[in-house]
Amino acid sequence: MERFDLLIHGASEVLTCTGEGTAEAKLAPITKGAIGVRDGRIAWLGTEPPARGEFEVDARGGFVGPGFVDCHTHVVFAGDRSGEFEQRCQGKTYLEIAAAGGGIARTVTATRAASEQELIELAVPRLERLLRHGVTTAEVKSGYGLDVESELRMLRVIARLGERTPISLVGTVLALHAVPPEFKADRAGWVRKVIDELLPVVAREKLARFNDVFVEQSAFTHEEARSCLEAGRALGLSPRLHVDQLTANGGAQLAASLGAVTADHLEQISSEGIAALAKAGTVAVLAPTSTLFAKARPFAPGRALADAGVKVALCTNCNPGSSHSENVFLSMGLACVENGLTPAEAYLGFTRHGADAISDPSLGRLQVGGPADLVLFNADSYRALPYHFAMNDVAHVVKAGRLIF
Ligand code: NIG
Repeated sequence: MERFDLLIHGASEVLTCTGEGTAEAKLAPITKGAIGVRDGRIAWLGTEPPARGEFEVDARGGFVGPGFVDCHTHVVFAGDRSGEFEQRCQGKTYLEIAAAGGGIARTVTATRAASEQELIELAVPRLERLLRHGVTTAEVKSGYGLDVESELRMLRVIARLGERTPISLVGTVLALHAVPPEFKADRAGWVRKVIDELLPVVAREKLARFNDVFVEQSAFTHEEARSCLEAGRALGLSPRLHVDQLTANGGAQLAASLGAVTADHLEQISSEGIAALAKAGTVAVLAPTSTLFAKARPFAPGRALADAGVKVALCTNCNPGSSHSENVFLSMGLACVENGLTPAEAYLGFTRHGADAISDPSLGRLQVGGPADLVLFNADSYRALPYHFAMNDVAHVVKAGRLIF
């Protein structure tokens, strides 16, 4: 048989994440597995490699799994909000800071003032940090431009970043993230502008896969979200929502009624909201690092969501305000300790369920014919990841068959 371009062997196990049933069964491990790669894709999976590799990597008893999918990030931004962090440490809440003119608005001012090139230079190291944590695909949102031109600039930056870093990026337009200062007295005017002027260009230039809205006291209402997301859907942009984060707002039910791909945050979700997500098949995206960092207690009820049959994905939610961190393993650890997930569920949150949250079932799994996006760990089991709390046990990252870290 022709040689593989890359052969990975010597693994304790290869987690394919292609099984069915319980979370542990979904991991579908191949004990002492090996992986053969050709042309950037997985050509073979098993225990007895039928050929050698042009290049071979010995996993030295560590486990190997799919590249992580970070399904909710805001890594394109300028400016610094360490002062707000300090204020929160002194007792101010995230909403109080936003109401006083800080929060998202502060990042909007800095982001509007930055050039496209500056935004790229600022985002590259954040993406490199994600990569070192095993992330091979990340969703990235706009939402710090909040005028048509600046939102488009953010989305073009996301597209250009995809060419600058090995991580695959998926764009999301989040024009309803906060009410722009120019529209404080005419919020309906901004929603109309987004629908009439921004979304058609985003769709025409294929700048985003998803259209997202922040439903919150400090942001947008159900009605505003519905009109924006329905208009986006008619243009081919799939709906997602930030809901039930800081205040309970029935947002999960809204997400379910819209058939949204994901409902994100969910700290304040009700039991009706959980049932609605389960019925609609909407993926719940939990962002425990932001619950911690923004001091937005309680943590989302991950256990109740998983028990109700909702797919639970995890993310870093890397952003300057509520989660200034690229630490995948902090998110996984918190998901176990505070959201009530098991280590297997937390691992699925950044693999298979993360991929489902960006509607890409070719990712987050290892399957013959699928992309060879892989992570090799300095640990023999996925259980070590949340247990070695907030520490990084990534040994190597392979993207499309290339060893990139
Ligand atoms: O996902 N919730 C809204 N958006 C971000 C926070 C953005 C910010 O504070 O800059 C989030 O947590």
